[in-house]
Amino acid sequence: MPVIGTAPTAAAVTAVTAGDATSTALLNCLIREVCAPEEQVWPDGDRLFARLPRAGVVLRMGLARPPVGATYRLTPPYEEQRGDGWIPLSWNRLANLVAGELELATGHPNPEFLHQVDGSHTALEAIISARGEPSYDPYIDSEQSLVAGHRFHPSPKSRQGSPNDWLQYAPEARARFRPLWLAVPEHLVAEEGTPEAFTALETYGPRIPQGRKLIPVHPWQFSLLADNPVLQEALARGLVLNLGPSDAEAVPTSSVRTAYLPDADVFCKFSLDVRITNCVRKNAWYELAGAIALNDLLPPIFRKLNSTLLAEPAYRSVTLADRRLYEGLGVILREGIASLPGTPLLAGALADPYSGFLADLPALSTPDSAQAWWDAYVAHVASPVLSAYLDHGIVLEPHLQNVLICVDGDGLPVHTAFRDLEGTKLTAGRWDLSHLPARVAESLTYAPDRGWNRVVYCLFVNHLTEIAAAMADLHPRLEKTLWQRARKHFTVYEHHPQMRALLAGVPLPAKANLRTRWSRSADRGATYVTVPSPLAAPRPL
Ligand SMILES: Nc1ncnc2c1ncn2[C@@H]1O[C@H](COP(=O)(O)OP(=O)(O)OP(=O)(O)O)[C@@H](O)[C@H]1O
Ligand SMILES: [Mg+2]
Repeated sequence: MPVIGTAPTAAAVTAVTAGDATSTALLNCLIREVCAPEEQVWPDGDRLFARLPRAGVVLRMGLARPPVGATYRLTPPYEEQRGDGWIPLSWNRLANLVAGELELATGHPNPEFLHQVDGSHTALEAIISARGEPSYDPYIDSEQSLVAGHRFHPSPKSRQGSPNDWLQYAPEARARFRPLWLAVPEHLVAEEGTPEAFTALETYGPRIPQGRKLIPVHPWQFSLLADNPVLQEALARGLVLNLGPSDAEAVPTSSVRTAYLPDADVFCKFSLDVRITNCVRKNAWYELAGAIALNDLLPPIFRKLNSTLLAEPAYRSVTLADRRLYEGLGVILREGIASLPGTPLLAGALADPYSGFLADLPALSTPDSAQAWWDAYVAHVASPVLSAYLDHGIVLEPHLQNVLICVDGDGLPVHTAFRDLEGTKLTAGRWDLSHLPARVAESLTYAPDRGWNRVVYCLFVNHLTEIAAAMADLHPRLEKTLWQRARKHFTVYEHHPQMRALLAGVPLPAKANLRTRWSRSADRGATYVTVPSPLAAPRPL
């Protein structure tokens, strides 16, 4: 089946229930962050057993195949041991057990946790029942395919407010919406970057009143800011004009807050004062400035690496006397996808076990062609990420949601576009950032070991492990072979000691989203645990 112009298989999506998806995500986290590090996990044929050691409870779940490296492919039914028998384990019973175990393990409670899991489950139910028709644009369908979301997060879909507030903006419901446009007097506009970027976008907005500039606003964010007194007064006095929507339509992408405007072929990265997984999605002032600083430095390097880092050429905001408005209305423009070769697809859509995207690619139809596909995939994704770090001191955040794979008509990867300058850092000591304000430079800088940790987690654990597992769902005996094949793409970097260690099979760092949420840490201070590496070298005798 050709890739271009066809709808992804939606059948698998309807098969997932909110309860199973919530349980699977919780169990994935529990096993990775609690049971496996404490050696309380036992695979046995097509089943996996796990004990919560402090709660003294044993769970049983289906296992699609023997584990390879950092992930177990869990399948319902999920059960709990009771006496000599097994009883069904509901998602909310599981959430309570996890909370109990973590409270005993850490010595402190977290009153928000169950509420967040419950919110995520409610959101999932709402998304599944509101999911609209595919657009038949494979790129847009891929961005809107993450129904169950992050597979290793305890509350992947939790979103503040009731679904009635946000379903109309939810990518997973296949929503489209029209941004609002504020007309702001020129003297109250803050902006940096290439001025033409906004001028081009403004042609899709309403007619601009004399002496003003337009700022596109996410309608959900506008309603969240509605009770801000400074904004209320500026609107009441006519200082800021709300021109409402134009005809321009926006498609929310997988991050929820970044929307693609197909007519203008540009992305608007909006602020949303809402916690989505680990962060409140607000463009902090230093992140606005940081994006422009990186934009001057990095895209040319990625062109040399035969790859693309989607440019963020400009931001704009309003300088009313309230920083919450400066950040809350600050919007970053990101270059579109029209000039990318082939058809871009979100990597997360390919890895998602419910989306059907991978199964639809003709290039994966046989085990042999799948191996060639994996070679192309690893070459296009891993090589630029590793070169960027090892040769240039650039720390990308190449998790599944930040990478677009461009494929040809057979679905074979031909190019990769990385995105999200907010998550992109530079290693300390490699770059001269003395021209930037100290806070901006600080937010762009990572210590080299921390940077490597993040690169390895995002690339190997979050991304390639999940792609290999999704491929093994199609070709179950392939997973080990894929990792042995992957080694040859990494040996060119073997002169770097960090890479030698990876090729020797040292354990990999995995972000511990469950523990991080339990301790209510900021994303920057996220906890990591180690997981087995699928890359282990053959042992010398
Ligand atoms: N495997 C994954 N790894 C990381 N995030 C994931 C994954 N799957 C889904 N997601 C979701 O993707 C989003 C990632 O957020 P991230 O901070 O990278 O994006 P952003 O900065 O908000 O927006 P953008 O990517 O458009 O710049 C979160 O909402 C997260 O739940
Ligand atoms: Mg992102």
